[in-house]
Amino acid sequence: MLVLEKIADFRRERARREGTCGFVPTMGYLHEGHLALVRRAAAENDHVVVSIFVNPTQFGQNEDFGGYPRDLARDLEMLHAFPNLIVFTPTVEEIYPHGFQSYVQVEEVSQGLEGERRPTHFRGVATVVAKLFNIVQPQRAYFGQKDAQQLAVIRQMVRDLAFPLEVIGVPTVRESDGLALSSRNSYLTPEQRAAAPVLYRALCAARDRYTDGERDAEVLRAAMRAVLAAEPLAAVDYVSAADAETLRECEGAVSGAVLLSMAVRIGRARLIDNLSVGVD
Ligand code: PAJ
Repeated sequence: MLVLEKIADFRRERARREGTCGFVPTMGYLHEGHLALVRRAAAENDHVVVSIFVNPTQFGQNEDFGGYPRDLARDLEMLHAFPNLIVFTPTVEEIYPHGFQSYVQVEEVSQGLEGERRPTHFRGVATVVAKLFNIVQPQRAYFGQKDAQQLAVIRQMVRDLAFPLEVIGVPTVRESDGLALSSRNSYLTPEQRAAAPVLYRALCAARDRYTDGERDAEVLRAAMRAVLAAEPLAAVDYVSAADAETLRECEGAVSGAVLLSMAVRIGRARLIDNLSVGVD
């Protein structure tokens, strides 16, 4: 395992490696969800690059950039068993040097859901991922379905800007009680952690209604809200039943693939989760 901090050093090393490169961008504080992406990348490519970079431009003014969990030594420990791995750990100054002024804005697909509540978030995500793609030059890049809108934004950007790579979406890894793994779960107290599976239960309730034949978007949203309302520690930010392609909110009868999703605050953690229905 090689750990590199500088773009120039990374490029020199990357140029020496032959075969396909699979890339997993992360913000660190790794867990089994991240490792599922790394395993998939390792299975499908000759070598793998993992980036660890807490990207300031995707955090809003009142968000948790400063307090975002960081533990590079532990992250490297979790990665050291993978063969042919480069870990890229740039500093903020390396990615955003003095005078930086170019940003990538993916328009429509960035606007609803998370984008509505976090207006500059996807501009920051698209910008850093575009820059990382230019540095790493992978053949394949791996993203979690956990962040479904992020995956849609990156797919759109890759199409629109003709990045020569394939984007691969990897299913969400969950704890045995259904809670989706997330670095932000570390914010939860034991009592809050016990409440947190309510997101998945709410998603499953709506999925069950869908499986039983329910197609009214508002009824599906109401099924999620009802489960969340029974958990006093959960403060709902939004629940959504959206077109899985455009991410526009569904009204009336749904058809085709539907993304059921939500953001819920539990204590100081803002948790997001989703499930898709109507996919073949
Ligand atoms: P981060 O939150 O560290 O997540 C890195 C990758 O891991 C993302 O593609 C995310 O969707 C995936 N992931 C997180 N939890 C997962 C889970 N439980 N199951 C499967 N995959 C999971 O997402 C980011 O970082 C950043 O926005 C980034 C893309 C690195 C740009 O800064």
